[in-house]
Amino acid sequence: STEEATPPSPSPSPEATAGTVQEGTAALPQPKPGQAVKGFTLTAMESNWELASGATQAVWTYNGTVPGQEIRVTQGDFVRITLKNELNVPVTIHWHGYPVPAGSDGVPGVTQEAVKPGEAYTYEFSADVAGTYWYHSHQESSVQVDKGLYGALVVEPKQFEQPDKDFTLILDEWMSEGGDAHSAHGSASMSDEEMMAAMYNIYTVNGKSGSLITPLETKLGDTVRLRFINAGYRSHGIHIPGEFRVVSTDGQDIAEPATLQNQIVTIAPGERYDVELNIVSPKDFAIDAHDDNKYNDQLVIPVKVSGSKGEEMEVQHDHLTAFDLLNYGKPAESELSKVQKFALEYTAVLNSKMNGNQQVYTINDKVFSELPALQVKTGDYVKLTFENKGTVDHPMHVHGHFFQVLEKNGVKVESTIMKDTVLVKPGEKIVIAFKADNPGNWMIHCHELHHAAGGMAQQLAYT
Ligand code: C2O
Ligand code: CU
Repeated sequence: STEEATPPSPSPSPEATAGTVQEGTAALPQPKPGQAVKGFTLTAMESNWELASGATQAVWTYNGTVPGQEIRVTQGDFVRITLKNELNVPVTIHWHGYPVPAGSDGVPGVTQEAVKPGEAYTYEFSADVAGTYWYHSHQESSVQVDKGLYGALVVEPKQFEQPDKDFTLILDEWMSEGGDAHSAHGSASMSDEEMMAAMYNIYTVNGKSGSLITPLETKLGDTVRLRFINAGYRSHGIHIPGEFRVVSTDGQDIAEPATLQNQIVTIAPGERYDVELNIVSPKDFAIDAHDDNKYNDQLVIPVKVSGSKGEEMEVQHDHLTAFDLLNYGKPAESELSKVQKFALEYTAVLNSKMNGNQQVYTINDKVFSELPALQVKTGDYVKLTFENKGTVDHPMHVHGHFFQVLEKNGVKVESTIMKDTVLVKPGEKIVIAFKADNPGNWMIHCHELHHAAGGMAQQLAYT
């Protein structure tokens, strides 16, 4: 039958329920004796959500809100999350950036079968590394993440110098009513990035735009940690008035981060930046976005300082320069900086082309289904070069591993910058390295999820 001819995701066994290990997937881990177990339930469901004043949309959510419930645990906890699916389409959860065992990575057809309507699946992992991560559906992600199926995963370090205020800020963009993700993806030519930008015209922070954005409440003397997560499809340039430090990116701390001022921190899809600042003046201010060098009035996050009497800090919006993550911080102890010989060195040339009348996004001129998996063994050192020969940004994401950024445009990166998603702009060439230390099958793909759906993805397979 024709059904047998197209088997990208085989149907799950009827016994597959919460907690059972589906056939063909890696066994899930068990808590160690004495390890604290933190349990959560995330229910995928429909919801109506007011994005902007007067703009309520039918969305898909985990637990009824956009973003879904924040999963916050302590380093060392054993985390068990049961996904229940009350939508009428299959879903999964992928723990973006977190080095989970393969069976919990949430990639349908690769690490598990998608969770069908009415079914459940339990994700389990030991939260051994701290930092800011996020979760999202990986089933038809360009559609499902777009409709709201995402949330934050924060792992507090065991010895956490708790800041006075700790805010998670998830960025996203939406299409105003009338358009929908399916038609944008299918019928509008994906080559027309401008048309995409025009359609996605509502910008949100934690699911809210403009006047609906919740002000951050602080007081004089507070240390404030801001955890920025980009769950959308375009980059945002964040402008923080006053002095601040970028203390970590993609969950990994930056060694000796210098104090910054008048710099715009660009956050690409999939990336995270943790910023720390001190409230040194009794005046309110706002964190805003300068996208494509233009002030974006929908992404203004008011910061209220108690006792300010409504007085506003004077803010300079001109003469801002771009923050350069790869020239920030200092070298730190790193095994990857010392590697002499890589078991695998692979160059991925990123581009797009027309396939008939369809725009596809390519790695070495091929789309996902034509690309062989990259083969590695446990313990191998792997070097990947991303070369963007196209005309649009490609934030490249590697599942299951942290990588170090070694070079940009032929110049060695001196600081030790560990990431899971790295922005590769048109004309740029970025070299990364990681150690194959997490057996399984993993995805490498562009986190502009329309590009991934359009072909820009490849597998990494342990032999
Ligand atoms: Cu956040 Cu494969 O993705
Ligand atoms: Cu891309």
